[in-house]
Amino acid sequence: MKKDFLSILDITKTELDEILIDAERLKRQKKAGVPHELLRGMSLAMIFEKSSTRTHISFEVGMHELGGHALFLNAKDLQIGRGEEIRDTARVASRYVSAIMIRAYRHSTVVDLAENATVPVINGLSDIEHPCQLLADILTIKEHFGKVRGLKVAWVGDGNNVCNSLVLSSALTGMEIAVAGPKGYEIAPELVEKAQALGGRVTRVKTPQDAVKDAHVIVTDTWISMGDEAEQEKRRAAFKGFTVNDALLRHASPDARVLHCLPAHRGEEITGDVLDGPKSLVWDEAENRLHAQKALLVKLLKR
Ligand code: CP
Ligand code: NVA
Repeated sequence: MKKDFLSILDITKTELDEILIDAERLKRQKKAGVPHELLRGMSLAMIFEKSSTRTHISFEVGMHELGGHALFLNAKDLQIGRGEEIRDTARVASRYVSAIMIRAYRHSTVVDLAENATVPVINGLSDIEHPCQLLADILTIKEHFGKVRGLKVAWVGDGNNVCNSLVLSSALTGMEIAVAGPKGYEIAPELVEKAQALGGRVTRVKTPQDAVKDAHVIVTDTWISMGDEAEQEKRRAAFKGFTVNDALLRHASPDARVLHCLPAHRGEEITGDVLDGPKSLVWDEAENRLHAQKALLVKLLKR
């Protein structure tokens, strides 16, 4: 049976631990120049309905370093851009490639693709989740703190895709997560309940200060996600006071570190001083997309 990765909860705790260990090994091998062509002869189709820098580059380079091949497919240039059904694209692409990664506006598109593909499907960001980002974030936290279980993590900002995957991940990692978002942009209660039902330690709090209190890790994301462009002004007004800045970090643990999936907007969700400063793990986090996704690809394709 093929295994998909549409949600961070599509892997078990044990699988997450294995991916982290494999990612660390693949990272060491790359740095040491040790070849690791574990996916020789395999191909990954990468379907993008939206823009991407990190997801596109890291998956393409990752497949290359694993001895395989990746195809960049802009959805507009595929026949789905002219109305071909996603299920037919799934069936046909499955005859050519070993796996499919898709970045889509609607999560239902990702699910539809996965249900009709006979090869593993990876969610490269939907409106509901960004599970690949979480693999990199957890790897970055583990690298820096030497552990993940028991750490306090604060989410400050929009309660959407990246936030959802972070909250759900607490059921796997044992990290304690406090979430603060402005009124109207809070995380959906069902997601918090789902994480809690699976053993995740998640609380919804009112202010960024409450969220970051004693936190080891502070995570934020853009106020204007892809697809939200029409609401720019409304969102900028609503998110006022939710900037991750030095004053906010004074409420956190003294050894706190900051994550941001990028792209960032200095002066909006995060200040330049924080993003470019000593508490930022953002550049390691971006690099770790590569190592974590290579480990994921090997796990899905070498079962
Ligand atoms: N963090 C992330 O997914 O970045 P891209 O949108 O550049 O892929
Ligand atoms: N929340 C952002 C993440 C980008 C990687 C978006 O959906 O645009």
